[in-house]
Amino acid sequence: MARIFITQRIFPEGIDRLRAAGHAVETREAPGPVPKEKLLNKIGEIEALVCLLTDDIDAKVVAAGSKLRMIANIAVGYENIDVAAAKSLGIVVTNTPGVLTETTADLAFALLLAAARRIPEADAYLRSGAHQHWELIQPHLGLDVQGKTLGIVGMGRIGTAVARRGRAGFDMNVLYCDHQPNDAADAELQARFTPFKTLLERSDFVSIHTPLTADTHHLFDREAFRRMKKTAILVNAARGPIVDEAALAWALQRGEIAGAGIDVYEQEPHVHPELLALRERVVLLPHLGSATEETRRAMTSIAVDNVLAVLAGDAPLNPVALGEAA
Ligand code: DGY
Repeated sequence: MARIFITQRIFPEGIDRLRAAGHAVETREAPGPVPKEKLLNKIGEIEALVCLLTDDIDAKVVAAGSKLRMIANIAVGYENIDVAAAKSLGIVVTNTPGVLTETTADLAFALLLAAARRIPEADAYLRSGAHQHWELIQPHLGLDVQGKTLGIVGMGRIGTAVARRGRAGFDMNVLYCDHQPNDAADAELQARFTPFKTLLERSDFVSIHTPLTADTHHLFDREAFRRMKKTAILVNAARGPIVDEAALAWALQRGEIAGAGIDVYEQEPHVHPELLALRERVVLLPHLGSATEETRRAMTSIAVDNVLAVLAGDAPLNPVALGEAA
C-alpha cells in the first residue's frame, strides 16, 4: 500500500481505482491549485502525487518529497513541474498525451472559425434584440476559411490534427514550422516546412501548437505581428506565454492582424485588460482545449494507469521527455 495525494478535484472513478488497488488516497476538494504550504506539509508523507497543470511543483516541493516515487500530471503539458529536479532525484514524471489530441484540435479549429465568422459577436447581437433585418451588408461580415493558407507553428500531434482539419475539411494550404520537417505530415497533407518568418508573412490563419520553452516564450511579439497579414487571424490553444499578450492587444488595436481566437493566457486566469476589451473578431475562452467530458475522464484514467504502474514497480506508461512536443 502506498500513500497518494491528489491536489484537486478529479473524476471519482480515478480515486476508486487507486483505492481498489489498496492505496491510501487523500484528496483535496477545495477549488483551485493546492496552496504551496499545504503541498510542502504533505509531500514528505506520500509516494505518489497526482496534480493538475495549475499546481506549481517546483524544485523545493520535489526536494521535500523524501518518499516520492512519481508525479502524475493530468495534462499533456508539464511546465508546471520542475522535471529536471524530479529526474535528478529519480522521481518519475508522467503526463497524458495522445488522448486529448483530437479534442484540442477541434477546439483550436472552433476558435479559428468563431473568430473568422464572428460567431460570439453575432450571438450577443442577436440576443440583445438588435437584429431587425437581414441585410446584404450585415454588421458581422466575416472572413472565408475555405482554400486559405493555414500556418501551423509546431507540427506535433495536435498541430498535425489541426492541419488535417484545415486540409481535409476546408481545402486549406498548410505551411508549418518546427525544429525539423515532419515527413508524414508533408506526405499526408501536402504541408510545406517553412521558416517561421515566411509562415507569418504568408498565412491567413496562424495556429500555435508548440510547447512553451525558453525559445518559444513571447515568440509572438510586436515584430511577429507586424510580419503577419493585416487580414490574418491568430489562434492560440497551446500555452499563453508563447504570445506577448500586450503585443497582441496592440496588434489588434492597430489592425496589424484582423483577429484572434485565444484559449490560454500569460498569467491564467488573468487576461490582459486591453485584450479583454476587444470584441471584434476576438474570441476568448477559459483554457478549454481538452475540456470534453470524455477526454477529461480519459486523461484521469491515463494518470491513474501511470500511478498504478509505477507503484507496482513497473515502467511508467507516459514518462515525460524534456522538450517533447504536444
Ligand atoms: C494540457 O493537457 O496540457 C492542456 O493544456 C489541458 O488539457
